Amino acid sequence: MKKTIIITGGAGFIGSHVVREFSIKYTDYQIINLDALTYAGNLENLKDIENKPNYHFEKADITDENKINEIFQKYQPDGVIHLAAESHVDRSISSPLDFVKTNVLGTANLLNAAKSLWNGNFEGKRFHHVSTDEVFGSLGATGFFTEETKYDPHSPYSASKAASDHFVRAYGDTFGLPFVITNCSNNYGPNHFPEKLIPLMIYNILNHNALPVYGDGNYTRDWLFVIDHAKAIDLVFHEGENGKNYNVGGFNEWKNIDLVKLLCRLMDKKLGGSEGDSEKLITFVKDRPGHDLRYAIDATKINKELGWKPSVTFEEGLAKTIDWYLENQEWLKNVTSGEYQKYYEKQYN
Ligand code: NAD
Ligand code: TYD
Repeated sequence: MKKTIIITGGAGFIGSHVVREFSIKYTDYQIINLDALTYAGNLENLKDIENKPNYHFEKADITDENKINEIFQKYQPDGVIHLAAESHVDRSISSPLDFVKTNVLGTANLLNAAKSLWNGNFEGKRFHHVSTDEVFGSLGATGFFTEETKYDPHSPYSASKAASDHFVRAYGDTFGLPFVITNCSNNYGPNHFPEKLIPLMIYNILNHNALPVYGDGNYTRDWLFVIDHAKAIDLVFHEGENGKNYNVGGFNEWKNIDLVKLLCRLMDKKLGGSEGDSEKLITFVKDRPGHDLRYAIDATKINKELGWKPSVTFEEGLAKTIDWYLENQEWLKNVTSGEYQKYYEKQYN
């Protein structure tokens, strides 16, 4: 069946992989990438698919009520896959209100636009909210986050994502808006902005800069290759049960310090240096305030109900990621110098 889908945040890290997955797989769908192109949004991420006839780009801020309503009226979407967000915990500590504005107000604004457009005719309609496992707070040494785990966010980022999840459920309960929510663990892969742990370490190793590890480095994250997240979103968007949430994770826990050392070894091999060269760059720095100790997803539900599981091992995913960064050093140079806005101006102005 033909569909028109608005994907918000499609120029970002995960969103660009979702846009690619959908525009290639569903050639009879119209895919509208709605993105404000903040520092994290980069149309260069999509240059391989930007000329496809089923792909359209709209530069818009999700907090802009008039513009969002205008875009919804123009395209009359059947579905919304909502990824646009302020996504970095450290930035949420220095600028919490930016996160409230984009993640809470922006989500409510999109929900309102969908509600107005669909106006009670919900047949074939769906709002898919892409959220994070960070809404569940922090685990101790054992246990997993399930779909029933109580929300307990600690950072302004996770609190704003938790609030946005609640707004999505509230629109479902109050207005009957059809929705699904996915709560995913830490992603890694190509096009990841080098402020997050894995791409930051790759970038710093390449440039022989210090590798800043927060605190004692014993914090644990559950890492998933970004294309496996995009495939999970595809499955849940099409086959997930209305009004439900699905946890998505890699069954792949790493302490930060072990992961950084692994990256050092892999990069030394790739760059032809001696083993131990990059590890010398590891520097323990002041801890992040409110730092969550451990995240780990129990992804049994999405596996049992929808048959999803990660398609690549961590070794394969990391190798693909490192190769991508080595082959795309121009991309890295552009995003780190702020030059990537020029690409947009050249393409669209
Ligand atoms: P990202 O920061 O790489 O990209 C965010 C995108 O949203 C950018 O293209 C940016 O331009 C756009 N955006 C930001 N503010 C906007 C606004 N006001 N209006 C319109 N567009 C705006 O983020 P990401 O890592 O790709 O994360 C995407 C989504 O997935 C987020 O909702 C995030 O909470 C969620 N998530 C991320 C991870 C992860 O590991 N990165 C894990 C689980 C869930
Ligand atoms: P990050 O990639 O920011 O993701 P999140 O905070 O959403 O999990 O950080 C992953 C882990 O790595 C987290 O425990 C914080 C830590 N970290 C460092 O030790 N050094 C760094 O420079 C960064 C960016 C993160």
